[in-house]
Amino acid sequence: MENSIPLLTLADGQQIPQEGFGLYKVHGQETMNAAIRAAYEAGYRLFDTAQLYKNEAEVGVALHQLGVSRDQLFVTTKVAEVNQGYQKTIDSVKNSLSKLQLDAVNLLLIHWPTEKYFFETWRALEDLKKAGLTRSIGVSNYQQIHLQYLATQAHEMPVLNQIECHPLLNQKPLLKFDRDHQIVTQAWSPLGRGKILDDPVLTAIGRAHHKSSAQVILRWHLQNGVAFIPKSVHEARIRQNLAIYDFALTDAEMQQIDALNQFHRFGKEPALVYEYNKKW
Ligand code: A2P
Repeated sequence: MENSIPLLTLADGQQIPQEGFGLYKVHGQETMNAAIRAAYEAGYRLFDTAQLYKNEAEVGVALHQLGVSRDQLFVTTKVAEVNQGYQKTIDSVKNSLSKLQLDAVNLLLIHWPTEKYFFETWRALEDLKKAGLTRSIGVSNYQQIHLQYLATQAHEMPVLNQIECHPLLNQKPLLKFDRDHQIVTQAWSPLGRGKILDDPVLTAIGRAHHKSSAQVILRWHLQNGVAFIPKSVHEARIRQNLAIYDFALTDAEMQQIDALNQFHRFGKEPALVYEYNKKW
């Protein structure tokens, strides 16, 4: 059995590690340095930030301090709702790159769909890709209907859709839609914000494999073909979340985890962010 993070190939040809490291709510330069160093040394290569996280400059310093070559890193950032619109997107991404101390990111996402700037923000991403400021472009929190609407005017389609996805919100129809349209699904809050780790189904499956509930959930994402970006500021957990490549869930166990779905969101409802043009 393969013991390291698999690479998925995006529709534009770029390869992306299936497991990455989430940086939401990681703040403070020392905490950031320690988290990124621990993650890199454990084997993570993908680091996921966003304009909204207000930590791009700290991420930039921490990545720079690693002192590794650029091709060892896969960096994602996302355009915040307040920066949507054609020119604001272009300007804000240049600002993000300067904070990140990078010439280009690997992946640039629109963080949430908004009605007001829906097409022009995407056009800006297409142009930023053409200008070499990002290798790939994608979206986040887009539902099937948003992707179908985008397809009516896009010159190229997103290669990745980052969505809230965990056992309480397994998003099966959207996973299928993404797969059918060569869009990689990437799960945010893959561990359900850490709030479902005491679930008896997950702990029982974990006991059977000598793994934690967190590892069981991440393995479920892996076997579903979903990319995922767990986050932790604790070194032991950072390493634990990578120790998922030496066991396999049975079909029955996969189905037991599927059955935990409750359509429960910890985050915002994308359809309402689209209508209000912001989170509330
Ligand atoms: P901490 O940073 O204190 O380790 P999600 O990625 O779904 O949003 O979940 C993140 C939450 O899960 C964080 O609060 C993190 O806490 C916690 N977490 C991450 N990995 C583990 C793990 N292996 N075991 C327990 N809790 C974890």
